Amino acid sequence: MRVALMVGNWKMHKTSAEAVSLVEGLKPYLAPLKDLEVVVCPPFTALAAAARAVAGTSIGLGAQNLYWEKEGAFTGEVSAPMLAELGCRYVIVGHSERRQHFGETDEIVQRKARAAVTVGLRPIVCIGESLRERDAGTTFDVLEAQVKGSLRGLSGDSGLVVAYEPVWAIGTGRTATPAQAQEAHAFVRKLLEGLLSPAAAAATRILYGGSVKPDNVRDLMAQPDLDGALVGGASLDPNSFGKIVRFRG
Ligand code: PGA
Repeated sequence: MRVALMVGNWKMHKTSAEAVSLVEGLKPYLAPLKDLEVVVCPPFTALAAAARAVAGTSIGLGAQNLYWEKEGAFTGEVSAPMLAELGCRYVIVGHSERRQHFGETDEIVQRKARAAVTVGLRPIVCIGESLRERDAGTTFDVLEAQVKGSLRGLSGDSGLVVAYEPVWAIGTGRTATPAQAQEAHAFVRKLLEGLLSPAAAAATRILYGGSVKPDNVRDLMAQPDLDGALVGGASLDPNSFGKIVRFRG
C-alpha cells in the first residue's frame, strides 16, 4: 500500500514569519487525516522556523535543494547533513526550475539524490517533458532518459519519491488531464520495475505536479498510479493547500 503524499513546494516564497503563519493556517485541515502524509518545503532560510512550527503536528518538513558534498569550500551551498539536522525528512531534487535556470543535469540530480539518501533524507526526484518535447512526440523518451539518469545508483529501499511534472503544466494553470498523467505515471512505474525491482516499483510513490488545485486534485488522485501531488502556487495559501490535503473530503 502506498500512503498518499501531498507536498507543498513553496519555491522562493515566504520569510520565516510568513512560514510560521502558513503552517498555523494549515493545522485546522490536518486532523484526523488517515493514510495521508503532508509535507511542506520552505526555502532554506525558513526551515528552522518551519521546523519549530510543525513540531507536534503531522506535517513533515522538506527542503527544495541540496549539494552532494557533506561540507567544504562550496560557497552558498547547503548539504544533506545540514538539512537532516534541521529535521527535514524529504528534499526535492532536480525540479525543472533547477534544471532550466541552474543547469542541473541528470548526472547532478543523481549525485544529489544519492547524497540525500546517505543521511536518511528521502529524495523527491522531479522529471517531466517540455511542451516542445510533448508536441514532438518524445515524452516517453525524455522520461526514460531522466528516470535512468537521475535515479542511477539508488536502491529500492532508499525511500525514493518520484515527481512527474510536465514542464508545460507548471505555474501555467494548464494541468495534465488525469489520463495524460496516469499514462506517464504507469510508464515511469514500469521503468522503476526494471531499474529497482517489481516490489520496489510497486512501493515507490509517484507524485503528479503542475497546476494542482483544490478543484482538480480529486480527479487526478483517482488515477491508480498517482500517489500524491507536488503543489507549487496553490500551496502558498493555507486554505487552498488545506483543501488539496483534504481532497477525500
Ligand atoms: P505549480 O508548481 O503547482 O505552481 O504549477 C508545481 C511545481 O513546480 O512543483
